[in-house]
Amino acid sequence: MTFLLNNDSISINIVKDLYYYTMQIRKYQVGDKENLRKICIATAPMQKNNNGRILLTLLYNDYYTEFEKDNCFVVADEEDKAVGYIICSEDFTEYKKTFQKVFLPKIKKLSFIAFLTKWITLNTIDKKVGKLYPAHLHIDLLKVAQSQGFGKQLISTLITHLKEKGVTGINLGVSNNNVRAIKFYEKLGFTTYLNSPFAKIMVKKF
Ligand SMILES: CC(C)(COP(=O)(O)OP(=O)(O)OC[C@H]1O[C@@H](n2cnc3c(N)ncnc32)[C@H](O)[C@@H]1OP(=O)(O)O)[C@@H](O)C(=O)NCCC(=O)NCCS
Repeated sequence: MTFLLNNDSISINIVKDLYYYTMQIRKYQVGDKENLRKICIATAPMQKNNNGRILLTLLYNDYYTEFEKDNCFVVADEEDKAVGYIICSEDFTEYKKTFQKVFLPKIKKLSFIAFLTKWITLNTIDKKVGKLYPAHLHIDLLKVAQSQGFGKQLISTLITHLKEKGVTGINLGVSNNNVRAIKFYEKLGFTTYLNSPFAKIMVKKF
């Protein structure tokens, strides 16, 4: 495996089963939106009917690709198709304001339970988390891009980008069932800030 660095992207060349291909990390582009939605749905663990699929993208995808494009990065395959992403909001107060105005009404139309759960999360999230760790992220890679160092590269690309903008801390939510992701975040220096029976909030200062 070789790493190539230039100003805009990080490329990783992989030789696998005598097939040589390149994936690279680059900034999100508007044309990636549908692929990011597909990745969000494909990597979510639950059963999904049509409403469930729309809910997933409303809850975990569209805010970031519509309102904070600059804070989104993708892993693109050799045809430049996104096969993974990291998407981020850099400021919890702004996120909450826009999410409540634009996305909660759409979520309410599809599922009152999903609406209520998200409303409670938005309005009970510890003020200290939002202040000390104002940014938050979601990261998802299709199987084809997992376990090759791209997750780690995406996190470090995002943190470098946020540091340049003066942001100094980030948080994320992860289900307690997702043991693999928890180990991954711990390996990258995230610690548990808050534990609930179903999920934890993990944080990192930089
Ligand atoms: C979780 C996920 C983002 C990790 O990305 P990845 O590209 O597979 O992980 P990487 O290859 O970059 O691994 C980075 C480091 O974490 C370590 N790591 C990853 N999974 C681990 C595990 N289960 N236990 C211990 N260490 C682990 C790797 O060994 C590696 O360490 P190294 O740098 O010393 O070699 C990715 O697998 C994924 O998208 N999974 C499905 C969707 C998901 O769960 N998203 C998170 C939702 S909260």
